[in-house]
Amino acid sequence: MHTLDFPKDFVWGTATASYQVEGAAHEGGRSDSIWDVFSRKPGAVYGGENGDVACDQYHRYKEDIALMAELGFKSYRFSIAWPRIIPGGDDGKVNPEGVAYYRALCNELHAHGMEACATIYHWDLPQSLEDKGGWTERHTAEALGEFAKVCFKELGDVVDQWITINEPLCVAYLGYYQGEHAPGIKDIGKAIRAVHHINLAHGLAVKAHRAAGLKAPIGITWNASMPRAATDREEDKQAALIARALETEVFTHPVLGKGYPELVGKLGLSVPIQSGDLEIISQKIDFIGINYYNENPVAADPNAPFKYSTKPSWQDTSDMGWPVVPGGLARLLTWVGSIGGGLPIYVTENGYARQDAVDPKGRVHDIERIRYVRQHLAVCADLIKQGVNLKGYYAWSFIDNFEWAWGYTKRFGIVHVDYATQKRTPKDSAYFFRDVIAGFGEW
Ligand code: FCB
Repeated sequence: MHTLDFPKDFVWGTATASYQVEGAAHEGGRSDSIWDVFSRKPGAVYGGENGDVACDQYHRYKEDIALMAELGFKSYRFSIAWPRIIPGGDDGKVNPEGVAYYRALCNELHAHGMEACATIYHWDLPQSLEDKGGWTERHTAEALGEFAKVCFKELGDVVDQWITINEPLCVAYLGYYQGEHAPGIKDIGKAIRAVHHINLAHGLAVKAHRAAGLKAPIGITWNASMPRAATDREEDKQAALIARALETEVFTHPVLGKGYPELVGKLGLSVPIQSGDLEIISQKIDFIGINYYNENPVAADPNAPFKYSTKPSWQDTSDMGWPVVPGGLARLLTWVGSIGGGLPIYVTENGYARQDAVDPKGRVHDIERIRYVRQHLAVCADLIKQGVNLKGYYAWSFIDNFEWAWGYTKRFGIVHVDYATQKRTPKDSAYFFRDVIAGFGEW
């Protein structure tokens, strides 16, 4: 028997992101984000779906927070929609209705004894900034710095924990290299520019946070991965090193004061660094956030752009086709612990997609999700015992929501959403969390 035994002060949270859950896309003075525009492009999002209504959390946050609190969660990780706060993107005009929404959300959390963990950027860039070149331009990083200043000024007294950027890798590569996410560009040169500008944006946000003198800690969330080599052939080991450099170290290293990995230059990629940038990017942060879903083995592949590709796994896969590899989380957190200089670490997302449906008795028996969470929580509990400074875990997601290019087809929630009625139904995994949080996590 294994006990999912966690320290008393371990932070149990659940997470979402603005565009994925809020809806009210044309209300409250909000402008278009790149996701509004991208989702109107034929073929960009499954079924032509979009976030216009999503889970309508903009109107239903009270009901959602009450349910989170009832289940025992202590922190809610949400993101702040830039197009709600500064609809013009970079004109400094603050929209009071946008600010009021997030203040009300934070106050509601506090009224339920919960903490507010706000991500400043979870992918919904104002379209007006994309029209000026988006993340390929330095201007966007500077504009994010200004947006962050506004967030600290307007919400600094109600937010308990700040995350600058969610998953820089997806912003840069899915958005500007693979084109699967907004703005849908496929250009490696632009993607590398985006890498640097998103890192710079993080640094500028941290700088603004320090200047504002806020007590609430600030960090960043990476979907880092330390993929294993598919075999111990030398070329596969090299392939794994390239994958690590391009997918993880270009983000982690500059922030942690180690500059860009040398391999980036060797691969012929040029990063648009200006003097002083690395100092801005590497300012001290207070914690590291890690999003983890899966890990794939990589092998040398002479036909791939960077001479590596992922190989099949033997593990079960989720509805995303992602292999279930709890060992990858162990490897990753151990590595993060080793490079993080003792900084607290939070798993800021972890979760499992499944074709869930409510049965006639009103239940959702999502046993595979429970198995997934149990395995990953067991890794967390073990690592804490081994001395990794892991301080909290956020379940992705609280509710089923708009899963980016997959639209509403992929359900990650521990609470089911019937999109026709907006009815919330806790799945069995929600009750599993309730019991683990309450200390009854034996299995
Ligand atoms: C992560 C994103 C999050 C969600 C999950 C499934 O990459 O941060 O918004 O889509 O994947």
